[in-house]
Amino acid sequence: MAVTALSAALSACGGSDGPAASVPKVLIDSDYNTMSDDGQLGVMAAQLQAQGRLQVMGISVVSGNQWLRQGVADALKSVERLGVGDRIGVYAGANYAFDHDLPTIRRELAAGAGGDGYLGAWGGPEPRSDADLKPSPDGFATRTRVQSRSAVDFIVDTVKANPNEITILAIGPLTNIALAARRNPEIVPLIKQIIYMGGAIDVAGNTTKFAEFNWWFDPEAAQEVVRLPIPQVVVPLDVTDTVLLDKATYDRIAHPARPTAVTTVFQQLNGYGFDGKNGFETNPAYTQNIWDTLTLAYLLDPAYATQTEQRYVDVLAKPGAADNGRSVGYAQQPAGPTLQKMTVVKKFDNARFFELYVDLLTRPVPVSLP
Ligand code: RIB
Ligand code: CA
Repeated sequence: MAVTALSAALSACGGSDGPAASVPKVLIDSDYNTMSDDGQLGVMAAQLQAQGRLQVMGISVVSGNQWLRQGVADALKSVERLGVGDRIGVYAGANYAFDHDLPTIRRELAAGAGGDGYLGAWGGPEPRSDADLKPSPDGFATRTRVQSRSAVDFIVDTVKANPNEITILAIGPLTNIALAARRNPEIVPLIKQIIYMGGAIDVAGNTTKFAEFNWWFDPEAAQEVVRLPIPQVVVPLDVTDTVLLDKATYDRIAHPARPTAVTTVFQQLNGYGFDGKNGFETNPAYTQNIWDTLTLAYLLDPAYATQTEQRYVDVLAKPGAADNGRSVGYAQQPAGPTLQKMTVVKKFDNARFFELYVDLLTRPVPVSLP
């Protein structure tokens, strides 16, 4: 292969043709959506890469908020909208959790799991072909294709090629990461850190009254991954429940002086709430969670977290029980399996964070990567 072609290939998969070595290398493992928290994080990460502050190695998609096929379609459109479809690859991962299907979920709900009723992908039919997919407000991707390598192979290859350099932002269910570690355990000591949005340590869950959505969706995978000897940071509901998007901040993004393709879609998909009626455009008191986006701020600067605790974190894997997927943060190592002591984020510098959030979501599009 000619040197120029090799450089282009390396660049296309986030290889050595990117920014300097000191720039954090990040792999985004996500239950992607168009412009809710995962999609917003995708925009923010691309803009940070354009500023030379981050190197995005790629996006591995997993079922969670949506079924895999829809998540991949939305991720492809997202990178194409941003103008980075040839630089930030999208990889398809796991479609199903290890041991959490609809009959099991129904048993958990009947056992009193409770929660806000949000079941993500399980809330709707699984798309069986591309004909079943819903376009983003500005349509489907037309030029950008999913990578031929699987998400699991992408994770394994990327970690091996960049030993002790890769931060995984784990902002969806942990099935892809668990599969990568199961199949290639030699990558475990080579992962620099994992920063999760997941868990509810000292607060109630959301999808059930016991469990947070990401770790509830695939409790077995979550348990496997949090027990791995990897430096880990948890951004749980404890903190994300206290960092809510309000109308004043929404308006800065949805109604900016210079609208972009991102701000337009942001307004279309966040302006009217999850029910299409009660949202920022209709209710000045409306607020919205922006869970995953906090993980990226923490990666940039851990000082965005104003309070953290060191805990031994575990996830209960009890299929069919009401508390399946519940996270626990022990102050001391308990008896039983060896747990990892990890950083649990409890409070954030909200004002500073929202300045970053607004800035990155309102920058010109397409972005131009260095
Ligand atoms: O519980 C919040 C998490 O569930 C976020 O990652 C959100 O995107 C959904 O996946
Ligand atoms: Ca997510």
